[in-house]
Amino acid sequence: MRVGVAGLGYVGLPLAVAFADAGAEVIGVDVDAAKVEAIAAGRSYIEDVLDDDLARTRERFTAAVGYAALAECDAVLICVPTPLTPNREPDLGPLLGSAEALGAILRAGQLVVLESTSYPGTTRERVAPLLERGGLRAGTDFNLAFSPERVDPGRTDYTLANTPKVVGGLTVECGDRAEALYRLVCSEVVRVASPEVAELTKLLENIFRAVNIALVNELALLTDRMGIDIWEVVAAASTKPYGFMRFEPGPGMGGHCLPVDPFYLSWRAREYDMSTEFIELAGKINQQMPYHCVAKLQRTLNDRGRAVRGARIAVLGVSYKPGVGDIRESPGLKIIELLQELGAEVDYHDPYVAALSQFGLSSTPLEDIVDGADLVLIVTAHPGIDYNAIAERAACVFDLRGVTRADAGAEVVRL
Ligand SMILES: NC(=O)c1ccc[n+]([C@@H]2O[C@H](COP(=O)([O-])OP(=O)(O)OC[C@H]3O[C@@H](n4cnc5c(N)ncnc54)[C@H](O)[C@@H]3O)[C@@H](O)[C@H]2O)c1
Repeated sequence: MRVGVAGLGYVGLPLAVAFADAGAEVIGVDVDAAKVEAIAAGRSYIEDVLDDDLARTRERFTAAVGYAALAECDAVLICVPTPLTPNREPDLGPLLGSAEALGAILRAGQLVVLESTSYPGTTRERVAPLLERGGLRAGTDFNLAFSPERVDPGRTDYTLANTPKVVGGLTVECGDRAEALYRLVCSEVVRVASPEVAELTKLLENIFRAVNIALVNELALLTDRMGIDIWEVVAAASTKPYGFMRFEPGPGMGGHCLPVDPFYLSWRAREYDMSTEFIELAGKINQQMPYHCVAKLQRTLNDRGRAVRGARIAVLGVSYKPGVGDIRESPGLKIIELLQELGAEVDYHDPYVAALSQFGLSSTPLEDIVDGADLVLIVTAHPGIDYNAIAERAACVFDLRGVTRADAGAEVVRL
């Protein structure tokens, strides 16, 4: 079995390693030559893949920049990015570029599976026509399916192997082939009737999270005015054994998925004379959170007789979630931008993010920034850091993640 993977990022690289581990011969393709070189040198650039994983699969996993080698594959998985344009509309550029390049070398009998998140209809209406340009017909001459990636970078309890994989084929045979392929690396495959069902399934999962995070964030805005501790409320509500699911408030949403994917659906919905209110509202509330955090930081300093201008702010954690170095759409970046605009002297510590060149900053050792800071701002609570010890030592702490004790004292303020 030869498996091709187009796009070797957070999704594609672990997938390539998993298939190589399962005994397949894997050919990865990426337009980023630096990534291809790193793989050849056995250097991983994704937290979930260790250098050891690349060393172990070296014989069976090779990477290239061009698509030509994918012509030899039995199956090709497309894992390229699906971002938004600056106007927050779907940017299918990388996906269409990938499908076009694949279409140029496609052979009869191959299976193509799209894993990139997109709106319902993408596989059938956008990808299939590009793959068919050479004269082969999807569902007849080659197989085509959509199977959403559910990887949660940094997570170890649920991985590709034990997370059910949803598969929707263009035809029953397309679905059968995709199912057989994923059975090599996943313990459970969930078949759905079409690529559209699979595409919307992924979006529902992400919209569900975005809406629930927005709900608890809106309550955090309210509890701030009411003088109630939102973390205590969430913790207490979470003791209900049924009918409640815990979501954490925070400085907003980050990553490639939650701030982006829901808007693929709201864009598509307009074609059907629908405006998806929950998605828009959740986006609005979550986007407002960094501004709220900075306003509350201003109030916190003001209460201590300080202005933001000239204040030394130590930001702890700038990636969008704990345990990873992914800074895409991270609310930490927005917060630093707003603080710098207000004239604050910002430093940051993040063991996963060495530098933020756009702000002219690089990660400073923890002890060095905590002691001299007027305020320590906990934006992302990475594992292995004792936040209560920091709360005891720092002049003032503003905790956006609820990782300090509720009774930590007057110098600790929580979201
Ligand atoms: N990161 C996640 O947690 C996650 C989870 C589930 C689904 N997804 C979805 O998976 C897809 C990929 O996300 P990601 O996080 O792996 O992105 P990524 O940016 O980490 O990786 C994508 C890779 O594709 C490469 N690429 C771009 N255009 C290409 C082309 N035409 N041909 C070949 N390679 C190309 C890029 O250089 C990059 O290395 C997206 O649709 C995303 O929404 C991501």
